[in-house]
Amino acid sequence: MSVEFNFEIRDKDIGARIGRLEINRKRLETPILIPVYNPNKPLIPVKDLKRKFNAKILMVNSYIILRNEELRKEVLDLGIHRYLDFKGLIATDSGSYQLMNYGNVSTTNKEIIEFQEKIGSEVGAFLDIPSLPDVYKSRAIEQLELTLKRSWEARDASFVVNAGIQGSTYLDLRKIAAKKIGKNFKLCAIGGIVRLMEEYRFSDLVDIIATVKKNLPMNRVVHAFGLGHPIAFSLAAALGCDLFDSAAYALYAQDLRYMTENGTKRLDNLEYLPCSCPICSKYGIELKELPEKEKIRNLAMHNLYVTLEELNRVKQAIKEGNLWELLSIRARSHPGLLSGLERLKKYGRWLSELDPITKKSSFYYSGNESRYRTEVINARKRLKRVSSMNRVEIPPFGKVPAEILDVYPFGSFRAPENLIKEEPCFSVRDIERVKGIMEYQFGPGASEFIEKNFRIKKSRRTRRIRWIYKGKELIASVRASDHLIIPKRYLADKLKKKFEYPRLRVVVDDDAVPFISDGKSVFAKFVTDIDPELRANDEVLVVDKEDNLLTIGTLILSPTEVKDFDRGVAVRVR
Ligand code: GUN
Ligand code: ZN
Repeated sequence: MSVEFNFEIRDKDIGARIGRLEINRKRLETPILIPVYNPNKPLIPVKDLKRKFNAKILMVNSYIILRNEELRKEVLDLGIHRYLDFKGLIATDSGSYQLMNYGNVSTTNKEIIEFQEKIGSEVGAFLDIPSLPDVYKSRAIEQLELTLKRSWEARDASFVVNAGIQGSTYLDLRKIAAKKIGKNFKLCAIGGIVRLMEEYRFSDLVDIIATVKKNLPMNRVVHAFGLGHPIAFSLAAALGCDLFDSAAYALYAQDLRYMTENGTKRLDNLEYLPCSCPICSKYGIELKELPEKEKIRNLAMHNLYVTLEELNRVKQAIKEGNLWELLSIRARSHPGLLSGLERLKKYGRWLSELDPITKKSSFYYSGNESRYRTEVINARKRLKRVSSMNRVEIPPFGKVPAEILDVYPFGSFRAPENLIKEEPCFSVRDIERVKGIMEYQFGPGASEFIEKNFRIKKSRRTRRIRWIYKGKELIASVRASDHLIIPKRYLADKLKKKFEYPRLRVVVDDDAVPFISDGKSVFAKFVTDIDPELRANDEVLVVDKEDNLLTIGTLILSPTEVKDFDRGVAVRVR
């Protein structure tokens, strides 16, 4: 691979990540939608994809170009960027999709790889074989074996390989495929899933994406091949998909199908338009009356607007930490999606290890599946750390110590009235609250440093605990937003003494020590070891190899991400 490729995580929620992806010095923010442009049937011209839709990356099917002699000559002559008059990133597909739909294609793996190199594609694909859902297993095995062999033939391609992971609906095959592809390629594409999406088989889709993701290193960029319907974005992103491509916006338009984030409608059946994109605002329901060709073009634009809009909604939810709430809303648009959401329960442990321990948003209970949310799994685990007799039942967390009722997620938990029970009111002393939070956050026994002579200062406005002093020394503050403790040096030293290696620790290489002593953030590549019980957004002790405390900071990534990434910040130091 001679094209430069970098990826780092900037923000997280559940298994989703907002990432910074750099290919060939062109920067993208993930998750991102790659609109597919069909040179034979261009419903939206490239200049509009640039200007109206702000496209930074396009996908073109190289097989379509190869097959058309005139087009092939022109693109070979100009190169794909000049041909499209597009300076952004250009990804090409290989004809695999045609292979799936028509059973055969008139090219070979080597030919289509070479062709993509010649036209100057920056992200290309080998001729992977998308197996249909539920094919005979022997067939899925054959197709996977050939796919893996073909991936090997692409290993030295001059473009970034968008490496297809196949295996049909067989999770053992998907696992093998993910392990092999993940070893050799940085951009991994989950293939053969379009049919599942079209049939609303979202629980199968969840199984496949989760199985693949669990068997890929966390720093692999994951593309959901052909997943272009907005209804699926929140679910696929929650499992850690970074790239989506959509030919669907155009294909659906040709069928006069009107996309919404909650499903597809036939334009003919609509009497009102549930959208205010520039197209729907301009035409209203008169859209139906436009001449056929114009109708299709405009419908394609509407479809692309709602597709991009949903992806922005997903990204905003990741930023706010309320992707679960968005998933719950989307799940109500189709039982298949609700099944998909419910299937996440099976992957709760894995997802809870990726999920941040505290979030900006409140926890809104939004239905039965909220009981299995990652925050619940993490909270229940940590509740065992606290030794309190005064407990209050808060479903779905169980008996929560009265001392930590202000702490995330208990403090920001909102549920319908029928779920909340009348509970005895405990009067809890401030010092007991601090002790409870210490145990919940750091572990059993963490409260033993909190002595009676400690001074606790409250916010004048909210009357909540904000600062903890020992004599005149500020030893910790309590964050207003989630009521978690931010230890200062004194407390950090005590924590380090109390908890044995590697608890609460992020260990860094000697090379990083001067930077960290300078107050700089800790980059993932310098981390040599980490406590696996930590979670993103935890307060952590940064130590050197000899276990000397260097600094205190907030963990940005999950422990597995810290291990797998060699780019980006792992611990933000104050
Ligand atoms: N487009 C949609 N699905 C697939 C797939 O599995 N492989 C490739 N190469 N392209 C696709
Ligand atoms: Zn619209």
